[in-house]
Amino acid sequence: MAKERLQKVIAHAGVASRRAAEGLILTGKVRVNGELVTTLGTKVDGNDEVTVNGEPLEQEQHEYYLLDKPRGVISSAHDEKGRKTVVDILKDEGVTTRVYPVGRLDYDTTGLLVMTNDGELANQLMHPRFEVNKVYIAKVKGILTNDEMRQLREGVMVDGQKTKEAKTKLLETNQRQKTSVVKLTIHEGHYHQVKLMLKAVGHPVLKLHRESYGPLNLTGLNPGQFRQLKSSEVRALKKLN
Ligand code: URA
Repeated sequence: MAKERLQKVIAHAGVASRRAAEGLILTGKVRVNGELVTTLGTKVDGNDEVTVNGEPLEQEQHEYYLLDKPRGVISSAHDEKGRKTVVDILKDEGVTTRVYPVGRLDYDTTGLLVMTNDGELANQLMHPRFEVNKVYIAKVKGILTNDEMRQLREGVMVDGQKTKEAKTKLLETNQRQKTSVVKLTIHEGHYHQVKLMLKAVGHPVLKLHRESYGPLNLTGLNPGQFRQLKSSEVRALKKLN
């Protein structure tokens, strides 16, 4: 387990908010391996014994959810503009654990988002080294040509860097509306990756949906619905590493 800031570990154990946890540390209520700690920089991991007011922290159970993110929802825990977040969707249905999204989908993007309080797995999945395959369905302006499809597969320049190999499939073209629907399988996850790739070949995205993430798909869920991952699915995600 990676080292994490003491106040974050206390907050994640559900003892107090992050701010209140800082107060507990500063007022001398927290010990790490028996030593009083009153500064905020300390980092700990699963091998350290943390006590608050003499009581050991209970290890928080890990929870894993699969959400079909609807449009118009922010993929983070808080939004300074007060917009609804993916965390609010779970909270509204009674999930009290502090889970957060693994990576992001844009405000107007729909589809598969994994949410968990397992920071270690989340960090692993988001690390480029693990190359989790993500499948997106994009509706774009204009009719994609074979050459543009090849460019998407082989790599296009986005922010001065060539994108990694992708898989592509043209699913639909509408000559009257002048739109196309394309399936893209990528394993990179830069900010606005798919929108920027399609813009780079001259086809701005009109609609974007993530259909799958590694071994997971959205079968049985409608937009706004979520479910817990089965333990076999959690194992499959861990095995991706
Ligand atoms: N790529 C994007 O451009 N947006 C997303 O939400 C996800 C991938």
